[in-house]
Amino acid sequence: MRKYHSLLPVLLGFAVLNSFVGCVEDIEEKERYSSSTVGLLKLLKVEEKFTDNLLNQVDQLGEKFEALRMYLSSVGYELHRSLNEKVQYVSNPINAFSLLRRTHEDLPKWHEYFKEAIGEGNQSILVDLVKMVPNDVDMLSAMHGIQRIEKIYDLKIDDLAQGVLQGVQYNVQLTYRDLIAMGNSMYQQSDYQTAAKWYRIACKRELENPEQLFIQILGDPSEHLHRQYIKSLFKYGSTTSEPSKSIEEAFIMVQASQEELDNIMSDLNEPQNDVEVEKDLYQVKRSPSNCELGCRGLYRQKTNLVCRYKSTANTFLRLAPLKLEEISLDPFMAMYHEVLYDSEIRELKGQSMNMVNGYASQRNGTEIRDTVVRYDWWSNTSLVRERINQRIIDMTGFNFLKDEKLQIANYGLGTYFQPHFDYSSDGFETPNITTLGDRLASILFYASEVPQGGATVFPEINVTVFPQKGSMLYWFNLHDDGKPDIRSLHSVCPVLNGDRWTLTKWVPMFPQMFSFPCKS
Ligand SMILES: *[C@@H]1O[C@H](CO)[C@@H](O)[C@H](O)[C@H]1NC(C)=O
Ligand SMILES: *[C@@H]1O[C@H](CO)[C@@H](O)[C@H](O)[C@H]1NC(C)=O
Ligand SMILES: *[C@@H]1O[C@H](CO)[C@@H](O)[C@H](O)[C@H]1NC(C)=O
Ligand SMILES: *[C@@H]1O[C@H](CO)[C@@H](O)[C@H](O)[C@H]1NC(C)=O
Ligand SMILES: *[C@@H]1O[C@H](CO)[C@@H](O)[C@H](O)[C@H]1NC(C)=O
Repeated sequence: MRKYHSLLPVLLGFAVLNSFVGCVEDIEEKERYSSSTVGLLKLLKVEEKFTDNLLNQVDQLGEKFEALRMYLSSVGYELHRSLNEKVQYVSNPINAFSLLRRTHEDLPKWHEYFKEAIGEGNQSILVDLVKMVPNDVDMLSAMHGIQRIEKIYDLKIDDLAQGVLQGVQYNVQLTYRDLIAMGNSMYQQSDYQTAAKWYRIACKRELENPEQLFIQILGDPSEHLHRQYIKSLFKYGSTTSEPSKSIEEAFIMVQASQEELDNIMSDLNEPQNDVEVEKDLYQVKRSPSNCELGCRGLYRQKTNLVCRYKSTANTFLRLAPLKLEEISLDPFMAMYHEVLYDSEIRELKGQSMNMVNGYASQRNGTEIRDTVVRYDWWSNTSLVRERINQRIIDMTGFNFLKDEKLQIANYGLGTYFQPHFDYSSDGFETPNITTLGDRLASILFYASEVPQGGATVFPEINVTVFPQKGSMLYWFNLHDDGKPDIRSLHSVCPVLNGDRWTLTKWVPMFPQMFSFPCKS
């Protein structure tokens, strides 16, 4: 830390903000809106119903109505989007995060504000909607989602805040309140470097609705901003230089007056000082893990692979040759293109009404786990499901019944899967391995386009596969002798922007004995 370093000790030890995400009581199995696009759409509906209901009561609300209208326009709220537009909206992490924060923090406050103005009938509708807003755990999951995409894709927070994702500019940005919420969360997690990055951007913005009325209703997010920014800079600074000295200094100067604070701020706001701060905050870079390189699509391209029409295996393929792309030769891994059709995708989405949480880790005591996906088993008999199973059998030669279950999954805001093996428990329910053997192979259909992120990465062999709607990827998890093949380690990268749907079939070992006899 350079120029401002000597100023920073002033604030160490000053009481931390009142409360962000405090202690939470939560049921792990409860749906998290943030963990799937399906959930985010539900949340959008809660907000729409709430807003719609109020907007329909212009007469009762009087001038309070105007306040609501201004708020909605400041957060980019739009009524009457088509379903397609809604999906696109929540597929963008910036919108998804704003939606979570708005409904978590603001919606109950609006409700409080309007309480007296609205009639009794509508009151109970609103009370029910307020009960449905995301809880602290969901909010924290959304924050983790943003944190994850920032880290894994090496996004600059300045860009993220402006709606730029990997160089693509979207027509949205995080609001002032969103930025401060992120800063506060990072501060709470003791990541002062990242907290300072968020606070710094917030300090450059202004509150969208600076009117006293809004501050009265929603609170003043800037109240502690400057102090928090300076504290974060100091705490970060003390981790990178002269820690003991700085802390001693700090304790001497704990009580900074507002005036001192303002002086430091105006110093920090000097353009050349700000450039220095920026340099300091961004200079220390963690080197990416191999998996992260994969998520960013940075593995070296393999050159000896081909794309061909496969038509020799059996009668089915002779009639309708399929486009097969080799992904890896050893271990063998391939992708078929255009093998899941839009009508089938519609049907499979219709089967996902009762999705449950998928987790990144095993349950450990009462600890709340990261919810990383929502999934459901497609267990109802269906001609479409039979057709898909039959197609897998035809394409791969595996031996299973065409009325077997398939797993449908949908991802959410920055949700992901850590590197794992399919042959041991991965947080999903495992099939009955006592009777069928372990999972010999995994078949993964991509049921949507994901414009950014969401790749399947195999870090042991440096393979990245980006989702392509209608394609099917398959690989082996076991060697010929049934022993685990660690090269099958794989991970689902967080979706950066998109609505990620997959359909999965795990092929158990024992029924394949005759179609894939051991070589030795
Ligand atoms: C809610 O308010 C609207 C507009 O004032 C009114 O027409 C409607 O009857 C109310 N609904 C209930 C359930 O009271
Ligand atoms: C699946 O079957 C169950 C039981 O028969 C039924 O209640 C449910 O509605 C079906 N689901 C769909 C999506 O058709
Ligand atoms: C489970 O939690 C305990 C502490 O609560 C920790 O020490 C342990 O490493 C955790 N185990 C796993 C597998 O995460
Ligand atoms: C798996 O199959 C075995 C043998 O049929 C049975 O005893 C066991 O209860 C099954 N386990 C589960 C979890 O269904
Ligand atoms: C994968 O790439 C990393 C560099 O990103 C390299 O060090 C490693 O040797 C590669 N592994 C394989 C199996 O190609």
